[in-house]
Amino acid sequence: EQNARSMITTTQDRAAIDKAVYWLSQGEAIGMPTETVYGLAANALDASAVAKIFAAKNRPQDNPLIVHVSSLSMLESILPNGKIPDVYLPIIKRCWPGPLTIILPTSAKIPATVTCDQPTVAVRFPAHPVARALIEACGFPLAAPSANSSGKPSPTLASHVFHDLNNKIPLILDGGACTVGVESTVLDGLRNPPAILRPGGATYETLQQLKGMEQLQVYRKHFVDQALELAPTTPGMKYRHYSPEAMVILVEEEEVAMAYGNSSNYNSNNHKDTQQPSFDTVWRNELTQLLDNGIGIQKVGILTIVPDGGSMEWRETTTKDGIEYVSLQMGRQGHPDEVARGMFKGLREMDTIAVDVIFVQGVSESNEGMAVMNRLRKAATKTIII
Ligand code: TXA
Ligand code: MG
Repeated sequence: EQNARSMITTTQDRAAIDKAVYWLSQGEAIGMPTETVYGLAANALDASAVAKIFAAKNRPQDNPLIVHVSSLSMLESILPNGKIPDVYLPIIKRCWPGPLTIILPTSAKIPATVTCDQPTVAVRFPAHPVARALIEACGFPLAAPSANSSGKPSPTLASHVFHDLNNKIPLILDGGACTVGVESTVLDGLRNPPAILRPGGATYETLQQLKGMEQLQVYRKHFVDQALELAPTTPGMKYRHYSPEAMVILVEEEEVAMAYGNSSNYNSNNHKDTQQPSFDTVWRNELTQLLDNGIGIQKVGILTIVPDGGSMEWRETTTKDGIEYVSLQMGRQGHPDEVARGMFKGLREMDTIAVDVIFVQGVSESNEGMAVMNRLRKAATKTIII
């Protein structure tokens, strides 16, 4: 029944999918694996089912959802004239199924609760075999935001969904660890020039090479005010996101911050004439300052990148002067796909350990690094430029 404890079920067998189809057909919301992050799925054509998504994750009512399909004909069935705009054809060919969401004109079939009354609908064809099998078996598209409580880091394991939504949904399908680890890229190809509204698993580098995408823009932070005026529900621009309980201090390199175009808003230390300090030096200095200011800190989390040639040690713990230091590694330098996979997991793990502060090492914005930095900047309480 509706108040049952959420069940985690593995997807080895058909029975799990059948159970999920049962709940979804009843108008319930359930946890679903995708290759990006876990989704909280409900029948996208049923307004009351969609309302349960907003309730379960306590999502602001004006943040629209992504509709997930398992075929192009399912997509066509929800479009105004059954026609996919030409601009998307090369993109679909290259990126679907996969971590890319596209903005399309909506139709009367899609409830206003999905689109939040916008004239457009966001659609994705996920690659995860369980998601595909599930949507296919349902025969209707699934609206699904990330399956975290609103504001928390996105879930990349079924246990993360259980942690946030246990008792709020009847079922979580366990499809293993998400292989991409960050949400899909949201691409608006209807505007001219086309724009990435949210960087994600499909990279700028990949998209920009495609026909019609030569002028592809990326929405940056300095566009926020203008963007909010144009579209109050543009992805992730209005609400604080991805934040663990602990204070998050992001350390990013000046070149990365400059390229991002927003460095003037930060308290940049000027190291032009001296050597750039290491991440290690910077967080230790910052910690000393926090302690000097009387901030009570017993546990310190450090989320790092494995340096070139180093090896992955998922976790290292040391204690010194009564403070416990836990260091987790997100991925190897030069492997932004690995960092993307490890980032949300690392942020969540820090909450499990209950650290008081998390120092995070930034990465370059190339490839999946753009999505990683977008999420880390949103999670950060403070950013230090080195
Ligand atoms: O990878 C993903 O995209 C995951 C998995 C579950 O598919 N889903 C996901 O959903 O990240 P969510 O709700 O956490 O993020 C959806 C983003 C939001 O930032 C929302 O503002 C944007 O997509 N969005 C949805 N509909 C839109 C629309 N019509 N126009 C512009 N942005 C839209
Ligand atoms: Mg989300």
